Amino acid sequence: MSIIKDLENRINEEIKTIGYDHNFKLAVSNRLDLGEYQINDCMNLAKVYHESPIEIAKKVVAKLEEMNIFENINIAGPGFINLSLNKDFVVNSVNLMNEDIYNNIDKLEKKKIVIDYGGANIAKQLHVGHLRSANIGEAIKRLAKTLGYEVIGDAHLGDYGRPLGLVIREIKERYPDLEYFNPEYKGDYSEVELPITNEDLESIYPYASTRGKEDESYMDDAREITSKIQKHERGYYELWKKITDISKADVKKIYDKLGVEFELWNGEADAVEYLDELLKAFRDKNLTVLSEGAEIVNVEKEDDNTPMPPLLLIKSNGTISYATTDLATILQRRKEVNPDEIWYVVDSRQSLHLEQVFRASRLAKLVDDDVKLIHIPFGTMNGKDGKPFKTRDGGVMSLKNLMKLVYDVTYNKITNESLSEEQKKNIADITSIATLKYADLIPFVGTDYIFDMDKFSELEGKTGPYILYSTVRMNSLLTKAKDIEYKEYKMYQNKTDKDIILTLLKLPSVLSHSLEIKSLNEITDYLYELTSKYNKFYQEFRVLDEENKDLQESWLVLTKLVYDVNTLLLDILSIKVPEKM
Ligand code: ARG
Repeated sequence: MSIIKDLENRINEEIKTIGYDHNFKLAVSNRLDLGEYQINDCMNLAKVYHESPIEIAKKVVAKLEEMNIFENINIAGPGFINLSLNKDFVVNSVNLMNEDIYNNIDKLEKKKIVIDYGGANIAKQLHVGHLRSANIGEAIKRLAKTLGYEVIGDAHLGDYGRPLGLVIREIKERYPDLEYFNPEYKGDYSEVELPITNEDLESIYPYASTRGKEDESYMDDAREITSKIQKHERGYYELWKKITDISKADVKKIYDKLGVEFELWNGEADAVEYLDELLKAFRDKNLTVLSEGAEIVNVEKEDDNTPMPPLLLIKSNGTISYATTDLATILQRRKEVNPDEIWYVVDSRQSLHLEQVFRASRLAKLVDDDVKLIHIPFGTMNGKDGKPFKTRDGGVMSLKNLMKLVYDVTYNKITNESLSEEQKKNIADITSIATLKYADLIPFVGTDYIFDMDKFSELEGKTGPYILYSTVRMNSLLTKAKDIEYKEYKMYQNKTDKDIILTLLKLPSVLSHSLEIKSLNEITDYLYELTSKYNKFYQEFRVLDEENKDLQESWLVLTKLVYDVNTLLLDILSIKVPEKM
């Protein structure tokens, strides 16, 4: 159990002996001049025990004094208790954390979670929204794992909709003689070449999409092709598979660069084997209605105060919708993984879609009622003009483009002439990704934010480069100290180093609360707070020149601990640390 929680328990046991059965909380004080912590519960107890708050506070303080854990205990105002941790307790705490950081992290009861994030679309460029889903999802997954959950990340690739039909329609236009379009072809498709690269695909989709909007018969063809793929008509289906392979390889490369890893690489198409069972679940319960040739499910509720359109299960041309694949995927996850909860890290603009899916899933009882389906909606990354990120000529900013822009800015900021070209590139690679990822996790998950490239790539302030640079510097201090033996924490000097320890003691509550709210903003804040406090210390004291050996040893232990916490948190955010900077 974490150190402060354990301490709270001990306090509560003690106070119980004088008759107050209550969950006293040690709140971190924002008035360090009065004390490091506060106990604010005496006011509430006054009503319960019919005593004045000040009387209760006095008795509580007497008990706290007996515990030999606190110093400067004082009562303020009508009954607020201020208190600070004494030296022995602080020293012991550091040694406990130094033995194992997990001694100060609260583990949760086991649960199995599927987390649906990433959501890249086959044959379409990834855009900045996909960065957010992948980045946030990966971090939430790692956070949940750190706190003891079993978590299975699923990429849920968009591989089954009309975009693929459009892309194939356009390929047919450009290469009508490909065997894929020859119904007579009986040979082996793995031997058939496809003269198309991922770059081609990236330009084909926007082209086909625009043409489809202008040309009705072209769009009809694309619809028909989509339906052929879904019916597994041999040539089209094989071509679809080939395109999926090409595109997936590229998507994997990008995710790899971003430090995003999936346990499952399922796509919408993989859920289709559950389609019959899905339809049966709805039809058997009479949940579907025919409407203009389509089969729909009404998901509205009486107390809805905004319109809730019906869910489209089967379109009038017989193809299935985005919602249908999401429903089939719920069934698939129940059968193949059987999770306690499914979390969806999906753009807030898809809230209505997911609400429809969740409601329909409940109606058809695709999962037990106690299996939670949770949408974690994220906001939009905007450019400096406050509008969704655009390229200079006003087009949609692809994720690759954005990564390249940040890379260039980062590379140009590297001034260290002693680095080789290769080292510079490597540092720019790691640091630019950190810039992007860290900035993206600063705001509360649901909030839109402005990605200010100049600000977020600075080496100062709340930025990825600042955290990385400082962490690298801690490591280099430890490397320089490798001939000094440092094992035990013995003492602190003053407020500057003690403050670092008080911050370390906050770690478990930051982690637990972050998972509760499923947002990383408190972790990025905390990294900045801890790093800044360490840097203040680094500026104030010269660790390697310190003559008091006990103090020097303690400072090295503390440095190692901050370094370990930083790397743990950066690993949760899946941000790599370069060897030098
Ligand atoms: N492929 C979708 C998109 O790009 C995101 C998928 C989100 N996940 C889901 N289960 N619907 O918009």
